[in-house]
Amino acid sequence: MSGRDPLRDAAFEVMERAYAPYSNFRVGAALRTSSGKVFVGCNVENASYTAGICAERGAVLAAVASGERDFERVVIATEAVEPAAPCGECRQVLGEFAPGLEIESYTTGGKAARWTLAELLPHPFTPASLDRA
Ligand code: THU
Repeated sequence: MSGRDPLRDAAFEVMERAYAPYSNFRVGAALRTSSGKVFVGCNVENASYTAGICAERGAVLAAVASGERDFERVVIATEAVEPAAPCGECRQVLGEFAPGLEIESYTTGGKAARWTLAELLPHPFTPASLDRA
């Protein structure tokens, strides 16, 4: 990791606020919109395990609730050995708003990976998929 990156800093900062007592796997996500705003999310787990939510979706919910839907870049931060890609459900939720999204993932150990959403979610189900004959 060379140079400061405000979005990466925001992802690591929010990762510290993750509520992950069951998996002990903390995730932070920082999403930048075309207006230059940054929205963050962390995973929030639950005693009823399936009620937990991922960091990436938390960031999307915060952005949309603030009236922002035009996403340019998302940065994910974890303490994993290898950079974590967003889970399938998060890919689907990100793709609703930003099929061309740039996704970067960093570890506390200094590893990095980068993908486009199209690479991670080829042949997506989109709003247009709902069109009827
Ligand atoms: N998690 C995320 O926050 N984002 C992902 O893309 C993958 C997984 C969370 C969910 C759960 O709280 C923990 O990581 C372990 O799966």
